[in-house]
Amino acid sequence: MPAFKELVFSGVQPTGNLHLGNYLGAIKRFVAMQAQFECLYCVVDLHAITVWQDPGELTRQIREVTAAFLAAGIDPARSVVFNQSQVPQHAELAWIFNCVARLGWLNRMTQFKEKAGKDRENASVGLYDYPVLMAADILAYRATHVPVGEDQKQHLELTRDIAQKFNNDFAGTIAEQGHGEAFFPLTEPLIGGPAARVMSLRDGTKKMSKSDPSDYSRINLTDDSDAIAQKVRKAKTDAEPLPSETAGLEKRPEADNLVGIFAALNDASREDVLREYGGAQFSAFKGALVDLAVAKLGPIGAEMKRLVADPGHIDAVLADGAARAEAIAAPNVAAVKDIVGFVRRR
Ligand code: TRP
Repeated sequence: MPAFKELVFSGVQPTGNLHLGNYLGAIKRFVAMQAQFECLYCVVDLHAITVWQDPGELTRQIREVTAAFLAAGIDPARSVVFNQSQVPQHAELAWIFNCVARLGWLNRMTQFKEKAGKDRENASVGLYDYPVLMAADILAYRATHVPVGEDQKQHLELTRDIAQKFNNDFAGTIAEQGHGEAFFPLTEPLIGGPAARVMSLRDGTKKMSKSDPSDYSRINLTDDSDAIAQKVRKAKTDAEPLPSETAGLEKRPEADNLVGIFAALNDASREDVLREYGGAQFSAFKGALVDLAVAKLGPIGAEMKRLVADPGHIDAVLADGAARAEAIAAPNVAAVKDIVGFVRRR
């Protein structure tokens, strides 16, 4: 496999309020990657409409996710911040990939099965095709690295399968047209960190989720200090004090979750946290966690509110990002069309 220029791409859906899981599992890591890589961060509105979205609410959510990116520290001068529907190459490449991906591959996708539920006949065709669009998002830029949550690993495998099949099926024209041995990289997921999976505050075995009926199960990025404090204090725990070693967190999902959240917010490891709080009662630890969470999240929530009050500014950031994204994607997708054998408009 030839060397591809290192490039990071990731996407967040503009559906439902952003919570601590989105922040620690995705956005905070996006911020950190800017130091090391050239990055594109996309608000994936085309993915959002695979399930019904109220149009006015969708508009609001697209701007809110953009605001969260900026408030958390993604620098739009350095990284490319944009929304998917403003860059036509995503949908265009997705069609070509629809003709590369196999039905059998998509039939194995576990997220479709979960999201479609029992009434599969009534799911949109877009929901089924979701992972192909995701492959197009990534490969339109020939991105080499994708920070995502554990739940997206299978979609990244599909992305690699599509890249590989395209590289093989079109090996002849890829070489003839001067692209060497492979046109697409085999993209790597970047999964990890102490809070790769942030769990519900009410049940340490369930993921923190925007769709949990209890608002006490999650900390929303726009929660004020009082709400954050209340939710942390009410978080489910067990009766034991905190252990001194991480091995002691096994089979204690709520303790493990709170320690993981503390670690991630503080840019530390679980070991670091237990070195300080091992033996502490939850009441004391929760007090420290409230202070930390309010200190780290409070300014982000406040900045988000300030930014969403000025949609003109957000829309200008998105327009600039879309132009820069398209400047990368357009020549790549034009080359793909040549490789496939389409005739260019002259
Ligand atoms: N499927 C991702 C999620 O729900 C969002 C997404 C869409 C994405 N396109 C992407 C993530 C491309 C990474 C790269 O979290």
